[in-house]
Amino acid sequence: MNYENILSEHSNGITTITINRPKKLNALNRATIQELHDAFEAADTDGDTKVIIITGSGEKAFVAGADISEFADFNVEEGGDLAAYGHEILFDFVANLSTPVIAAVNGFALGGGLELAMASHFRLASDNAKMGLPEVSLGVIPGYGGTQRLPQLVGKGRAMEMIMTAGMIDANKALSYGLVNHVVPQEELLPLAEKIASKIMRNSSVAIAEAIGAINANYDDGVNGFEVEIEAFGNCFGTEDFVEGTTAFLEKRKADFPGK
Ligand code: COA
Repeated sequence: MNYENILSEHSNGITTITINRPKKLNALNRATIQELHDAFEAADTDGDTKVIIITGSGEKAFVAGADISEFADFNVEEGGDLAAYGHEILFDFVANLSTPVIAAVNGFALGGGLELAMASHFRLASDNAKMGLPEVSLGVIPGYGGTQRLPQLVGKGRAMEMIMTAGMIDANKALSYGLVNHVVPQEELLPLAEKIASKIMRNSSVAIAEAIGAINANYDDGVNGFEVEIEAFGNCFGTEDFVEGTTAFLEKRKADFPGK
C-alpha cells in the first residue's frame, strides 16, 4: 500500500511502521492517524507479520503530539468526536491488537505521541528521548488515553505530576518510572527492537495473542481478568501451536509453530 505520511516495511516477520512527517516532528494529523490504522490492520492480518515496531522518522521526534493546527478551532462536539474517533481507530485499536506492538521512541514523544507509545504493548527509548503530556499547557487534557494509561504505567502520583506540570521527563527517568523497558543510544534503538522482536517470534503467536487479551483484561472495567485468563488458557489447548510446542519439548527439539 502507498502512504503519504508513514512508511511500512516488512522484513523477516517484522513490520516496521515509521511515522514520516519529520518537518512537523511527526505530529499526528487526521490523515496520519487513518494511515496508521490501515498499516496496523494490514500488518495484523497479513499472516506474515509476527511483531510490529512503531517509530518516528528523523533523529528528533517519535511524535510531537496531535497536530495542534487541525483542532485549534474545534467546538465541544468536534473535540469529543476527535478523541472518540482516535481511540477507536488507533489508540484502543493498537492496544488490543493481537500482534505484539513495540514502540521505539526515538526522540520527543509528547501528547498523542506518548499516548501512541503507551497504547503499544511495550516501549524502548533512545537516550535523547523526552516524554510528556503537555496538553494542559494548551488548555485541554490528554484525549487519546493519556489520563488512563499513564497512571496504569507509572502510578497515579507520577501521572498527576506529569499531567499537571505539562513537563517532559528524559529517557532515564522514564526508565526508572517503568514507562519504557530499555534505554539505548539512538543508533542501537531499532536493532534492539528487532532483537527483542526475534525473541518474541520464536514463541507461539497464537498463545501470545491470547496472553495480550488476558493482560489487557486486567485494565478493562467490569471484566474479571482471572476469568479471561482461565478461558484463554483453555483455548490454547485446542490449537496446533500447543500440540507442536508440547510435542517439541517432549521430543527435545525446537518448536516450529504453525502460528496464526
Ligand atoms: N502539532 C502541529 N505542529 C507541530 C507539533 C504539533 N503537536 N509539534 C511540532 N510541530 C511543528 C512546529 O509547528 C514546527 O512547524 P513549522 O516549522 O512549520 O513552524 C515544526 O513542527 C518544528 O517544531 P519546532 O517547535 O520548531 O521545534 P522545536 O525543536 O523548537 O520544539 C517541541 C520542539 C516538541 C518542544 C515543540 O515543537 C512543541 O512544543 N510541540 C508541541 C508539543 C505539544 O504540545 N504536543 C501536544 C499536542 S496535544
